[in-house]
Amino acid sequence: MNQLLQGKRGIIFGALDDKSIAWKVAEKTVEHGANIVLTNAPMAFRFGQIEELAKQLDVPAIPADATSEEQLEELVDKAMEHLGGPIDFVLHSIGMSLNVRKKREYTDLRYDWMQKTFDISAISFHKVMQSLWKKDAMNDWGSILALTYIAAQRVFPSYSEMAESKALLESFARSFGYHFGDKKNVRVNTISQSPTYTTAGSGVDGFDDFYNYADEMSPLGNATADDCANYCVLMFSDLSRMVTMQNLFHDGGYSFMGINPQLKK
Ligand SMILES: NC(=O)c1ccc[n+]([C@@H]2O[C@H](COP(=O)([O-])OP(=O)(O)OC[C@H]3O[C@@H](n4cnc5c(N)ncnc54)[C@H](O)[C@@H]3O)[C@@H](O)[C@H]2O)c1
Repeated sequence: MNQLLQGKRGIIFGALDDKSIAWKVAEKTVEHGANIVLTNAPMAFRFGQIEELAKQLDVPAIPADATSEEQLEELVDKAMEHLGGPIDFVLHSIGMSLNVRKKREYTDLRYDWMQKTFDISAISFHKVMQSLWKKDAMNDWGSILALTYIAAQRVFPSYSEMAESKALLESFARSFGYHFGDKKNVRVNTISQSPTYTTAGSGVDGFDDFYNYADEMSPLGNATADDCANYCVLMFSDLSRMVTMQNLFHDGGYSFMGINPQLKK
């Protein structure tokens, strides 16, 4: 096995259970020689299986609500202390919509819930990066990633306010990518992943249609969570040093298809 991340230190947000994309990313980064710290919202420690993953990988899991600046700054301190130095890579794998969860129509959204959705799913990414910035916690040539979905660019009606969350998230990657690049040669990108059966994914109405349509439309079919983890390893490795401020489609070609003649058959 290649050790693309040998000696690198990372923080992985968002492993809830063994279906989570972050779970697969955590496993792959450790396989590739990285030292990592896992984190998730305190609630996820009660309802999810993050502590099992921490045991399996023999790494710490530290609770932090990604909407809390204070908890994020504490997390960054603890992660650097545990890992023994500044951080080389960070995965933001966090998403949740209150209006989707409570099945509000897009034409009848509650704005207090929308603000909370944006805070959890997008502003948290800015908060994570600002905490790392303030603590000067990133190593030169480090890599920061967040996971997104093509509903930021195209209309998927049942994805609702998560579409705007993802548009905001992708914009934060570009804007903070400038500052981090300029200051520390750190790159910031988003990976736009195929529909994937996870807790967050399956919470969207009509998820089977999203999944099946994308799978049939894409010449390579849908990318799995394992495929996504491989791509994250590449993006955390030194093989992708000059890629920054990009939204990278990881979807078997779906994003650039117009019509697929196979669909008629
Ligand atoms: N599943 C898909 O189809 C798909 C497709 C494209 C992008 N994504 C994105 O991938 C990312 C990971 O989602 P997933 O599909 O693995 O589902 P998941 O449900 O396993 O992960 C979502 C995570 O967000 C965490 N979270 C929620 N609120 C939080 C908070 N306040 N603080 C810290 N963490 C919090 C949850 O505990 C959970 O671990 C999300 O950004 C999602 O939008 C998913």
